[in-house]
Amino acid sequence: MYLNIISACCGAAPVILFIIIWNLFKDILCKMEGMATNDDMNITRVLFCGPYFPPSHIYTKEYLQNYPFIQVDDVPLADVPEVIANYHLCVVKSMRLNSNVISRAKQMKLIMQYGVGLEGVHIGAASNCGIKVARIPGDVTGNAASCAEMAIYLMLGLLRKQNEMQIAVKQKKLGEPIGETLLGKTIYIMGFGNIGVHLAKCLRPFGVKIIATKRSWASHTEVSSQSNALPIENGIIDDLVDEKGIHEDSHKFASKADIVVCCLILNKEMVGIVNRSFISSMKEGSLLVNIARGGILDYEAVAHYLECGHLGGLGIDVAWTEPFNPDDPILKFNNVIITPHVAGVTEHSYRSMANAVGDVALQLHAGTPLTGIEFVN
Ligand SMILES: *[C@@H]1O[C@H](CO)[C@@H](O)[C@H](O)[C@H]1NC(C)=O
Ligand SMILES: *[C@@H]1O[C@H](CO)[C@@H](O)[C@H](O)[C@H]1NC(C)=O
Repeated sequence: MYLNIISACCGAAPVILFIIIWNLFKDILCKMEGMATNDDMNITRVLFCGPYFPPSHIYTKEYLQNYPFIQVDDVPLADVPEVIANYHLCVVKSMRLNSNVISRAKQMKLIMQYGVGLEGVHIGAASNCGIKVARIPGDVTGNAASCAEMAIYLMLGLLRKQNEMQIAVKQKKLGEPIGETLLGKTIYIMGFGNIGVHLAKCLRPFGVKIIATKRSWASHTEVSSQSNALPIENGIIDDLVDEKGIHEDSHKFASKADIVVCCLILNKEMVGIVNRSFISSMKEGSLLVNIARGGILDYEAVAHYLECGHLGGLGIDVAWTEPFNPDDPILKFNNVIITPHVAGVTEHSYRSMANAVGDVALQLHAGTPLTGIEFVN
């Protein structure tokens, strides 16, 4: 019996040896094959989510057109969960990236915004999956300047009564409606980040009083140096702002202003903070401009105070749902003007942001440090 086993073993030895050698050989073959496939697959894939803001992916593709190893795709929102696993870099645009979608992003290295707002990204879920999340700082790309200019456009549109002017033109009237100047107005900039600073700089020469609130004034130089911008001296801020407050002062500041401009980044605490008590504390007939995010304004409160005439005008580049229903009752008022979320959408800022995304894609591909973006996790 014992001998039998030994002889069986000895008889099997060459077979076992053969199997071992064969497996080694196969391993090497597989590795070579794998290398070949990896080489073929060594393409860095960039995913733009959804149909809106088309210049973002068009300009990024243009910037990267001479780099065949970077693939830029724009994918319908509904398809994103299905395909996200194939991508290394994701530009969210208006997509909501919840933890479920993020957990499917098996090869994802970086999720970023084509701009600043990242409220649609579940940052904790990304961190859990080892994915970095970043925004493009607005001061270096001209995004903040573009948004600030848009705020001024909306302010002037309200002051000069854009809708009524169009009606007057159609009805062949002259010399009406009577408008108002920025000169002499008090403007409350709610949220004094990069956009707020640019806005204050642009507004100064109009002869306005500028009052502003932000979470903490101490953090200002810190934020600016993070984004590689020239540090903004406190002295310059003092020249730009006639009265500074913190968020808790917002109702008091609203009561002093002829125009309130929302330049806040939307987070949970900011949702609906322009509510009934905020608007009722605004001056009778004063104007409200929002270039930040639709959710900052409470829809019912805005509708109510437009209806009763307390709110003298509303200028919004962002809405509660986007694209906004063109038949929404709020748009029936002559003193309401809306633009299709274009504050940051200019040749200047979109070309520079395309370069920023393109450079990050190239760095990701080369495995070098990612520059020009601001990480939030
Ligand atoms: C409005 O928001 C403030 C916080 O900013 C809150 O204290 C207040 O209760 C809210 N008022 C209404 C009427 O919703
Ligand atoms: C992918 O290709 C780039 C250059 O084309 C190279 O530098 C990099 O090491 C490659 N990455 C892998 C994982 O093979």
